[in-house]
Amino acid sequence: MHKITYRSPANIALVKYWGKKKPQLPMNPSISMSLKNSYTETTIEPVGKTTTGISLNFVFEGKENKAFAQRIESFLSSVLPYFPFLVDYHLNISSSNSFPHSSGIASSASAMSALAMCLVRLEQQLDEPNGVFETPEQKASFIARLGSGSAARSIYGGYTLWGETPSYAKSFDEYAVDINASVHPVFQEYKDAILLVSQGVKKVSSTVGHSLMNNHPFAERRFRQAQDNITKLFSILEHGNQKAFVDIVEEEALSLHAMMMTSSPSFILMAPNTLHVIEKIREFRENTGIPACFTLDAGANVHFLYPGEHTATVEQFIQSELSPYCQDGKYILDEIGEGPEFLLNA
Ligand code: PMV
Repeated sequence: MHKITYRSPANIALVKYWGKKKPQLPMNPSISMSLKNSYTETTIEPVGKTTTGISLNFVFEGKENKAFAQRIESFLSSVLPYFPFLVDYHLNISSSNSFPHSSGIASSASAMSALAMCLVRLEQQLDEPNGVFETPEQKASFIARLGSGSAARSIYGGYTLWGETPSYAKSFDEYAVDINASVHPVFQEYKDAILLVSQGVKKVSSTVGHSLMNNHPFAERRFRQAQDNITKLFSILEHGNQKAFVDIVEEEALSLHAMMMTSSPSFILMAPNTLHVIEKIREFRENTGIPACFTLDAGANVHFLYPGEHTATVEQFIQSELSPYCQDGKYILDEIGEGPEFLLNA
């Protein structure tokens, strides 16, 4: 059997997914931008077997990793109804990230989307039926979602929507869709500098964070806000309104953090330097008129988004004004990317 290798990107949400219901369905729709330089590469090598059940071994960055192997095993068991042939093969899986493992960048979106792309490709190579899905990407997004919600969005490049919204006719909770056809050219050249304010393990895992939205006093209002922001962001992306983009994106980041500050128990996921960076970015925007803005994941690192035409000015600003707030002065220069790439079939 052939080895299959995919490279799949991380993505950064502009309207955030936070709160879910079974089976891994979002409480509100989200829109993200897929990145280019932050990715996972995953190879699967199927070897025929006669024993029953799921069988795999997993090597992460050159080393066997039993903890990750267990997580993948339970993921593969959960997707068995969609890939019944998996019980006929032992899978040698290996994976590595382009970004340092301890950098605090969520790797589950890139990792789960890369694995989902490999599995869908394997299914095609085996001439297995793909079920009810219209395209291989649709199935890959559905499968990736079961591993990590935000991974559903990494199946496409550029801008992606996951979750049902009246603002977009073909939108689904089960898988993400490519919305690039409705995006103005000014948004197609965006960059994302990831400022590594705090490297290391996040204070709150996604699983715990999502569950804190159950019975949260502001949850219903937050889900409505996200729905409204999706509607606004669609119009902003379509018309190329960079000023309004800044407002929505920053509001979303702060709302996500506000939810965690007001949950029970409560969490402050920003670090003091997160606030310093945010202040600096707002000051920079004020002084230069460049429509650059920040967004945050559920952690202390800051994603600094800016139009590609201002790269030189912004990079100079990052180096001189923002890198002092980053751990060991580190940041990652990234940009909008084209989505998963099939690398090898050897
Ligand atoms: O995919 P998960 O379950 O790790 O959740 C990701 C949640 C955020 O990154 C905080 C927001 C998002 O929409 O990506």
